[in-house]
Amino acid sequence: TPELRELLLGRIKDVQDYPKPGVVFKDITPLLADPKAFAALTEALVELAVRYGATKIVGLEARGFILAAPVAVQAGIGFIPVRKAGKLPGATLAQSYELEYGTAEIEVHAEDLSDGDRVMVIDDVLATGGTAEASLELIRRAGAEVAGVAVLMELSFLPGREKLAPALGDAPLDALIVV
Ligand code: PRP
Ligand code: MG
Repeated sequence: TPELRELLLGRIKDVQDYPKPGVVFKDITPLLADPKAFAALTEALVELAVRYGATKIVGLEARGFILAAPVAVQAGIGFIPVRKAGKLPGATLAQSYELEYGTAEIEVHAEDLSDGDRVMVIDDVLATGGTAEASLELIRRAGAEVAGVAVLMELSFLPGREKLAPALGDAPLDALIVV
């Protein structure tokens, strides 16, 4: 709803020239510190989880963890962390992706996802789409199905949605706020 968008947008702070000159950082810490806004965000994401028919929630390290964990608890389904490489002790699947300069790698515990799972991915921001795309590859490689991707904020001046489209297939991509 427009009211929800206004509430959430009003709690996201634009920080100019962070982490480097020319970049506007979207700081979600004021939203997290406001229990009404955080609860409204969680509720909206739980509604999407129900609509997707999700059986697992994947959160993308690090900010995605914060948003995804309460959704999993409230929806009554499992939370699966997709971590930056080297943080998970068990057998993992790994996927690298492009950054502006160089590459990064994310991992998931292979045993956490399997066929029959319908997985919802949650993150704070969709920018170039590289992180989310890599997570969808991991989910598919684990044999699970992508139920949908939900982000708090989509940066529509970047081609994240286009980049994600092939990996999404028929699965939905929902952004609570588009800027
Ligand atoms: C940020 C943001 C998203 C990602 C979006 O995470 O939280 O996860 O970038 O960018 P993309 O669409 O271009 O991939 P980042 O890895 O910077 O840091 P974090 O650990 O604080 O989440
Ligand atoms: Mg992130």
